[in-house]
Amino acid sequence: MSDQNLSTLLHEMTLDEKIAQLTQLATPFFKGASDQGQITGPMAELGITEDVVQNSGSVLGASGAKVTKNIQQAHLKENRLGIPLLFMSDIIHGYKTIFPVPLAIGCSWDLDLAEQSAAIAAKEAAVSGVHVTFSPMVDLVRDPRWGRVMESTGEDPFLNSEFARAFVRGYQGDDLSNDHVRVAACVKHFAAYGAAEGGRDYNTVDMSERQLREYYLPAYKAALDEGCEMVMTAFNILDGIPATGNKKLMRDLLRDEWNFDGVLISDWGAVKELIPHGVAADEKEAAHQAFSAGVDIEMMTPCYVHNGKALIEENILDEALVDEAVLRILELKQKLGLFDNPYRGADEELEKEIVFSSSHRHAARELAAKSSVLLKNDGILPLKKEQNVALIGPFAEHDDLLGPWSWKGSKEDAVKISVGLLEKIGSAQLSVTKGSDVKTTSQAQIDEAMEAAENADVIVLALGEHSEMSGEAGSRADIRLPQAQLDLIKALKSLEKPMVAVLFNGRPLDLHGVVDQTNAVLEAWYPGSEAGSAVADLLYGDSNPSGRLTMSFPYSIGQVPVYYNHYNTGRPKDAPDAQVRYVSQYLDIPNEPLFPFGFGLSYTTFSYSDVTLSDNVLKEDEPITLTVDVTNTGEMKGEEVVQLYVRDVAGEVVRPMKELKGFEKVSLEPGETKQVTFTLNEEQLRYYHSDLSFKSDTGEFIAYIGPNSRDVSAHPFKLEK
Ligand code: NOJ
Repeated sequence: MSDQNLSTLLHEMTLDEKIAQLTQLATPFFKGASDQGQITGPMAELGITEDVVQNSGSVLGASGAKVTKNIQQAHLKENRLGIPLLFMSDIIHGYKTIFPVPLAIGCSWDLDLAEQSAAIAAKEAAVSGVHVTFSPMVDLVRDPRWGRVMESTGEDPFLNSEFARAFVRGYQGDDLSNDHVRVAACVKHFAAYGAAEGGRDYNTVDMSERQLREYYLPAYKAALDEGCEMVMTAFNILDGIPATGNKKLMRDLLRDEWNFDGVLISDWGAVKELIPHGVAADEKEAAHQAFSAGVDIEMMTPCYVHNGKALIEENILDEALVDEAVLRILELKQKLGLFDNPYRGADEELEKEIVFSSSHRHAARELAAKSSVLLKNDGILPLKKEQNVALIGPFAEHDDLLGPWSWKGSKEDAVKISVGLLEKIGSAQLSVTKGSDVKTTSQAQIDEAMEAAENADVIVLALGEHSEMSGEAGSRADIRLPQAQLDLIKALKSLEKPMVAVLFNGRPLDLHGVVDQTNAVLEAWYPGSEAGSAVADLLYGDSNPSGRLTMSFPYSIGQVPVYYNHYNTGRPKDAPDAQVRYVSQYLDIPNEPLFPFGFGLSYTTFSYSDVTLSDNVLKEDEPITLTVDVTNTGEMKGEEVVQLYVRDVAGEVVRPMKELKGFEKVSLEPGETKQVTFTLNEEQLRYYHSDLSFKSDTGEFIAYIGPNSRDVSAHPFKLEK
């Protein structure tokens, strides 16, 4: 259908039909849905009429070729103008083949594999009838109390932007009409949802515009620059105005400044939440505010359908704005090819062939191994195949390995840790006991674990958080492992056997009571469908750990938020002339996190030498290059993430102590040396000034090169104009 036809179609639509297009409802509302019987409850509550359902524009959460085809067919029979539905779903880190959670994917520092994971998710979703995924989530995160940090790639704006682009490329490719392969992406949550006060979900966000632009906005912008088709609003307020009713964010910034012309959808129920936020007296005011601010589609509340017509008839809302919003939705349907084939990629045969295929699972295993971060190792890892192993802990045989946001993944299909270990060693060498549940234990459980451990050469602990302890509405104030698991570690420690802890969790934890009690710690996050295989590969050295943290692990909860790109303060603790007391510090703990951004160990070692700058003066049109030789000084092939940071020594406003400006993941054979080259140009030194202008300043800079944000060498240079 041509553009011209879309405007003809728009003009044929009645006002009611247009407003219904702007409403998104969940699957059970629709005829043809297998769970349609459940509609009475929500239908009654929302006050949605059959008429609205027949004319609504999109469905939330439907999937499966058969189901989506049935729904579309039933819909087209009843929709007067034959406008197809858009099927949107949360395909966050895989459809049925579940990859590690996004925070873990971030720790891979591997953009190609991240893109590949999104492409596989898109393929599986597309043949199952899904058109749009509510991903990537690119909220910058600094507070591990917030349960949704597992959905983000971490605390750095540059790295998050690179991952945002990789995910969008993976989902959308260059051609959305490739209907068995691609789905449209929806970047979320616009904006700054990750900065919820105290890490409590849905809580207040307040920050300067400079802070917002410098740290929080870049990743959303990067996703849009990559062509991301949709944007979802956030639940939080920003500068006193809920994001979902925030004209400055949506009309002024997103539409006018960034020229975004795709579809903007509210988060679930967020339009009606303008009432409890206290900025709308009723649903009518909520509809007015959200719509005027720029929300095209209202997800799962009825403010638009109940009040849209009245708002226009009373001249409170301009119908031209409604037309614009509807046209954007029709255009997306057209781009996806739905007017030509409303069933698009949905295909039962392909679904059987592609979904959860062995090649997809293989990719999941690879990414899971590359996403785990080795935090400590006194030499006990990798394990030797002749050792007898006592696998102990709530995750030893648990299937809770997919994380809280794997909507279509089946836990039963995930490879358990015990099964992964059995692939490596015989059953006579492996004992498996729980020792504790996630939150509780008993003396009997501990005794059983102690007995198993007595007969083993090494104890492998599979510990962590239940997946419901993170994710949406999964904030925690105490981010240690539950006491039951700490008690288990303590009891086993008395045996004085080597202990390896493997952690399954959705956030950086306070690891006191774990790191100090064990010989090795592997942060495996929620590794996904291939969890057991990937973890066993790592424990036995068939994969060499190469993950590096993208979110700092606090020394203690009292430090939070703690992040690498902080400011120096006027009284830095480590200044040469620092006083003993009157400096910026805690009296009882260090300022530094337990494990910093960029940190992770390998089974081999790397050395850095011969850092060379092509020039120590950088000019506007004359970038400089920095080269470093990286050598594998150990005995196993391994991958190192070489990191480049920069500090602007004296800015017009304060500048971070370090900012990540480049990285490269290199693979090195034992004894091999590779030269890594980074280019730095003037544009990379720009930042937001006090008047919000984005520019660089001449003067002194320091480049830092190293394996993480802490252990770096410093190389001064100047910017001249
Ligand atoms: C609420 C979540 O905040 C959002 O991330 C998700 O996409 C929607 N629900 C739809 O399920």
